[in-house]
Amino acid sequence: MENVVVGFVNKGRLIHKGAEANIYLLDYMGEATVLKIRVRKKYRDKSIDRYLVRSRTYKEAYVLEVAEKLGVPAPRLIYASINGGILIMSYIGGEILRDLLLHNMLSEKEKEFIFRRLGMYLSRLHNNGITHGDLTTSNIIISGKKELYLIDFGLANLNSSDEEKSVDVEMFERVLLSTHTGEAGKLFRWFIDEYVRYIENPDEILRRYRIIKRSGRYHAQKS
Ligand SMILES: Nc1ncnc2c1ncn2[C@@H]1O[C@H](COP(=O)(O)OP(=O)(O)OP(=O)(O)O)[C@@H](O)[C@H]1O
Ligand SMILES: [Mg+2]
Repeated sequence: MENVVVGFVNKGRLIHKGAEANIYLLDYMGEATVLKIRVRKKYRDKSIDRYLVRSRTYKEAYVLEVAEKLGVPAPRLIYASINGGILIMSYIGGEILRDLLLHNMLSEKEKEFIFRRLGMYLSRLHNNGITHGDLTTSNIIISGKKELYLIDFGLANLNSSDEEKSVDVEMFERVLLSTHTGEAGKLFRWFIDEYVRYIENPDEILRRYRIIKRSGRYHAQKS
């Protein structure tokens, strides 16, 4: 395994150093792919570290496969080594949604399309028990054709409760408020409008979402 890893890295070009993983652009059998290698954190206990790398790699690989079956746009999984913390997936050419929004590079129509689509895709994942766990505008790639792709599923939950689904929604709203403050309300309304249209139990999820939102405010005021 070690040799194979070294072989991959030699052929790849580092394009991103994340909090948990290094991302390489890699020509894999003639296809543009992304090699995601979760790196060890020296400050973390060795066995905890091994557990986290394994479980996050497994979850990401699993969700990429389920997403494909559900028709939720995400990179196609090509190779996974759970023990090695390694994934190879198709490369999605495009821009991160966060950057497009911050640099005002999308029309209102495009934004509405993207956020409504996102609501539909998230409900599809949720209806199949999967929460994203780190839904931010940095974890969405917009292709040249203005289609959205979800990435970065290492913190996903595969057997989610209604509570976890509500947290996914509420966390996303908070991300919008802090990163895209001026237009957060509008973006979230497009997203949630479509989400509740497709989610199996909208009343329960919205009820919990409101409770989380209230308690979040309460904590924020107290601290
Ligand atoms: N399949 C892909 N196609 C194109 N670019 C990708 C792909 N996967 C990841 N990237 C690029 O690498 C970046 C980091 O990927 P990802 O979010 O999966 O890793 P991460 O370790 O969680 O990084 P961070 O901690 O910065 O979120 C993305 O923002 C994107 O620019
Ligand atoms: Mg990320």
